[in-house]
Amino acid sequence: MKYFRKNIQNMPGYTPGEQPGEGEYIKLNTNENPYPPSPEVVDRIKSCLAHNFLSLYPPPLCQKLRQQISRVYGIPVEWILVGNGSDELLNLAFRAFLDPDDTVSYPVPTYTLYRTLAHIQEARVLEIPFPPDYSLPIELVDTSASLKILCNPNSPSGTFIATHMLETLVEKSDCPVLVDEAYVDFAGENALPLLNRYPNMLVARTLSKSFSLAGVRVGFVCAHPDMVEGLIKVKDSYNVNRLSQEAAIAALQDFPYMLCNVEKIRRIREKMTENFRNLGFEVFPSQANFILIRRKGNNLECLYQRLREEKILVRYFPELPDSLRITMGSAEEMDQLVQAVIRFSQEACL
Ligand SMILES: Cc1ncc(COP(=O)(O)O)c(C=O)c1O
Repeated sequence: MKYFRKNIQNMPGYTPGEQPGEGEYIKLNTNENPYPPSPEVVDRIKSCLAHNFLSLYPPPLCQKLRQQISRVYGIPVEWILVGNGSDELLNLAFRAFLDPDDTVSYPVPTYTLYRTLAHIQEARVLEIPFPPDYSLPIELVDTSASLKILCNPNSPSGTFIATHMLETLVEKSDCPVLVDEAYVDFAGENALPLLNRYPNMLVARTLSKSFSLAGVRVGFVCAHPDMVEGLIKVKDSYNVNRLSQEAAIAALQDFPYMLCNVEKIRRIREKMTENFRNLGFEVFPSQANFILIRRKGNNLECLYQRLREEKILVRYFPELPDSLRITMGSAEEMDQLVQAVIRFSQEACL
């Protein structure tokens, strides 16, 4: 249609993972949590609905939620901005930091939304391939850009870059460096302790994964107060709805519940890493709630399709044809997956 800006007309648009109807599939394709959110979350939402809660606009800066995040993570309130999922916060960063033709740089393969956001902004994209072991590409440190992004743990590899390496990147970059920590609760360390030394660093978090709240859409970014002030200018006034704010507060108040689920998922991840290696796959060492399995040189689209026919959804990326990304589901779901893969191993596609 002729009405769109040229770059919007020409860009392909982001393709989210498939979201089929509830209960139909074993869903291991979009890195959701197999366990339900804390019961406190459901109670809080119910009690909100008992009052005349929905007729008022939400608090624009999510003040109560920011205070709760501040208590849990030990970061002052002015260093926190809440978003409608961390996707919104990524979006704000692209809009706030990138003029047309400015450069955004990040290692690939990674979360493909970064490319889409760059296209919307008419920014130049400098995608730097990860080395085969998914360590930090030194070119990312050395290059000059208007925004750098590091997804850590990375998706789809699940691999993790140690905090001291990440510090080198932030220290040597004279631009904002956004660390996307969507999966960091499943890892052993995180970048928050670096924040007060580096005013150019932003750390994005989400409640979608470890807190089982993907449907509620709450994320937050931690950064120097001047960064937060700037991003606030760009966001919608009422970007996080009232129910979501309350649900997120309740989830953060039940922090041990999240830790307990994360521990279960980590154990399943270790077991699945071993199982798939025994089945002859390369499995990258994962610090996330998913693993990337690979049969070098083989196209795994056929395995993906066969699993789909069995109502098991995993993620196939056309740009990584010899790999599949598998979200860690419950122990029972993972058993079904492994049994199906063993059955299909006999077939020509493996
Ligand atoms: C690396 C990464 N960052 C951010 C997000 C977005 O999370 P949210 O649900 O908070 O928007 C995802 C979602 O899959 C992700 O994989």
